[in-house]
Amino acid sequence: MADHTRARVLVASNRGPVSFSSAPDGSLTLKRGGGGLVSGLSAIEDPNTVWVCAALGEADRTAARRSPQGRLDQGGFDVGGQAVRMLDIDPEVFDQAYNGVANSTLWFLHHLLYNTPTAPVFDATAAAQWTAFESYNAAFAQALAAEAAPGAAVLVQDYHLTLVPALLRELRPDLRIGYFLHIPWAPADYFQLLPEELARAVLTGVLGADRAGFHTRRWAEAFADCCEQVLDAKIISGAGARNELSVSYQGRTTKLGVHALGADADFLRERAHRADVDERLAALREAVGGCRTIVRVDRTELSKNIVRGLQAYRHLLRSRPQWRERVVHIAFAYPSRQDLAEYRDYTAAVRRLSEEITEEFATDSWQPLILQVEDDFARSLAAYRLADVALVNPIRDGMNLVAKEVPVVSDAGCALVLSREAGAHAELADDALSINPYDVIGTAEALHRALTMPTAERAERTARLAAAATALPPQQWFLAQLAELSA
Ligand code: F6P
Repeated sequence: MADHTRARVLVASNRGPVSFSSAPDGSLTLKRGGGGLVSGLSAIEDPNTVWVCAALGEADRTAARRSPQGRLDQGGFDVGGQAVRMLDIDPEVFDQAYNGVANSTLWFLHHLLYNTPTAPVFDATAAAQWTAFESYNAAFAQALAAEAAPGAAVLVQDYHLTLVPALLRELRPDLRIGYFLHIPWAPADYFQLLPEELARAVLTGVLGADRAGFHTRRWAEAFADCCEQVLDAKIISGAGARNELSVSYQGRTTKLGVHALGADADFLRERAHRADVDERLAALREAVGGCRTIVRVDRTELSKNIVRGLQAYRHLLRSRPQWRERVVHIAFAYPSRQDLAEYRDYTAAVRRLSEEITEEFATDSWQPLILQVEDDFARSLAAYRLADVALVNPIRDGMNLVAKEVPVVSDAGCALVLSREAGAHAELADDALSINPYDVIGTAEALHRALTMPTAERAERTARLAAAATALPPQQWFLAQLAELSA
């Protein structure tokens, strides 16, 4: 008999579709979440899909406690027609799992961010963090096991939940389990900075899934290499045009899929022409006063390589003085992960270099750089519309949706300077100007080429970039994975 009280489709991610803030009087304000993962999954909007996520702060925890079993939709919160279960995980456990393991160890590993003479260090502190990470993953697995109907499909998202597929399979072998990684996968040599026991746990965690998805073939191959080298697993190359890889280990096979999340054209075009965006566009136009614009929009994130981007802009102004008083760099660097010292230091470095650039070049009538650090989506869209050049230069990035959103929203065409290390590069390379993200002089030269690109060429390239960027819109991206899991 069908079980109507439990879900047929479930999604799990650390950050959910909503978060809360609380006023001094105890009232809670709900805000829709941002970021690549949430944008991708927000297309679901199906009341029969249960989305399991973590409470990220005290206000979230209060909301979760006020809801029966953490079900926000049953606790009187308007979560946009979705069923959301928010897990109230012990704050200390959450902190060690999220900041200690997910955002320090795993994020640093997969984005190649370690300064290896001093980090990583796997000592007693790291071991305690790992234990917390196991409990945090177990809490997700238990919640999913409780919510899922027999044979349900569960789509587990991202590096925070890397252990969940295997834990969930143990609890509920009847489920169809998918895993999707939104960030890159480290090359095998680098991955093996992890102690062997942890490396094995990460890989076997993912291999608990029936299907594991990545944004690009490159990340899927890196994962397969790690499975081969660390676990001695067997890698099978599939026949057919897609040549899908599979990993066979201890009698089970996990298929690896490539699903390149695209930009949501309908949403973006509609949102980018609302009054609040028009207002901000007018303000930006006034601020740049007829100069050409180089735009970047990122979280202030080490992997986004903002400092080298600023160095490249400085080099452009030094080496090609003809651009002085003719170009403005608009850099939106929104706050992120300020609990981590590395991020606080990086934020300070971004501010310092911005000030140095202003000091070196500003004149009475020209500000070379506009740096904004308060998150404002409408203002980002305004900058996308205005941009002559978009700079997207990450050290590594699973996808990078900014590179895909700018061409969709651009008013008059925008040249895209794009790191070869962004996942988006796999689809956008033909019409972007590719850069090595470590090469500051090369990046400055690409900015110059972008600024001097003829208008017609820029418009043609932008149209092709927009078509490539929207090839797999979020809803299709999600439904394709669900269909493959159900097949
Ligand atoms: O997949 C990476 C990701 O989780 C994205 O959803 C988002 O861009 C970013 O990292 C957000 O990170 P956090 O949830 O730590 O703010």
